[in-house]
Amino acid sequence: MEIIDNPRDMQSLAASWQAQGIRTVLVPTMGYFHQGHLSLMEYGREVGSRLIVSLFVNPLQFGPNEDYQRYPRDLIRDAGMAEEVGVDILYTPRAKHLYPPGYQTYVTVDSLSQGLCGAFRPGHFRGVATVVLKLFNQTRPQVAIFGEKDYQQLVIIKRLVADLDLPITIIGRPIVRELDGLAMSSRNAYLSPPERSSALCLYRSLLAARELVAAGERSRQAILDTVQQIIAATPYTRLDYAELVDPETLEKVQVLRGAARLMLAVWVGSTRLIDNTLLKET
Ligand code: PAJ
Repeated sequence: MEIIDNPRDMQSLAASWQAQGIRTVLVPTMGYFHQGHLSLMEYGREVGSRLIVSLFVNPLQFGPNEDYQRYPRDLIRDAGMAEEVGVDILYTPRAKHLYPPGYQTYVTVDSLSQGLCGAFRPGHFRGVATVVLKLFNQTRPQVAIFGEKDYQQLVIIKRLVADLDLPITIIGRPIVRELDGLAMSSRNAYLSPPERSSALCLYRSLLAARELVAAGERSRQAILDTVQQIIAATPYTRLDYAELVDPETLEKVQVLRGAARLMLAVWVGSTRLIDNTLLKET
């Protein structure tokens, strides 16, 4: 595995692979790898002949009072894990290279970015869309892989690629969980032991919603009431939102018909966690 930290070197390698018709896969990340990241890399290994993993903690997608400074970082550990999975290039650009003085171009995916996390994290998805487009231009992948853990992000990136005619196939992959159901996240490292127990309320409320649907419940209000009660009964938690949305448009669903996505964002202590699941009529 080679580590490249310079956009110019990355771009010229990517251009030469493209000229040779080599099928390149990109997995964009902010590092501090866990099994969720590794599952995307393993899948990427299967679908292409060159695998690039980008590792960049993108300041543009953090709000002024968010955790950019304290976001966990461990390049040596991450490089070892990536090498083990068979990553070809670990691309680790610097903020001063991606956003040099005078930088002023941003990408906004309009209405998809406004609801859910977008309503609580203004500018977040503009930061995500901008950096992902830059990473696409620097690495020229045929395929890029994202996790359903960040479901709104996945839908936004699919829209970006369609709207800007990018010749890239976006693949979404399932959420990887700890044995007890907590969705893996680099931010789980922030949780104290009692908060770690409380954090299980996200998965428990998704399961409760699935059971309601299996028992015939179709009403948004009934499903969200159950979720809200479970969160409210859990110590150290505060709900940002629980929403039932259309899996493609992310518009609110009043009555479940076919399939909907249940989306959750919950503060546990000073850590903001997100999770989601597909709810399907059987
Ligand atoms: P990061 O949070 O590091 O996540 C990188 C990728 O891993 C994303 O596609 C995310 O959805 C996926 N992922 C995280 N946890 C997962 C889990 N438990 N199961 C499956 N996939 C999981 O998302 C970002 O970074 C950034 O916003 C980025 C796209 C890199 C742009 O800066």
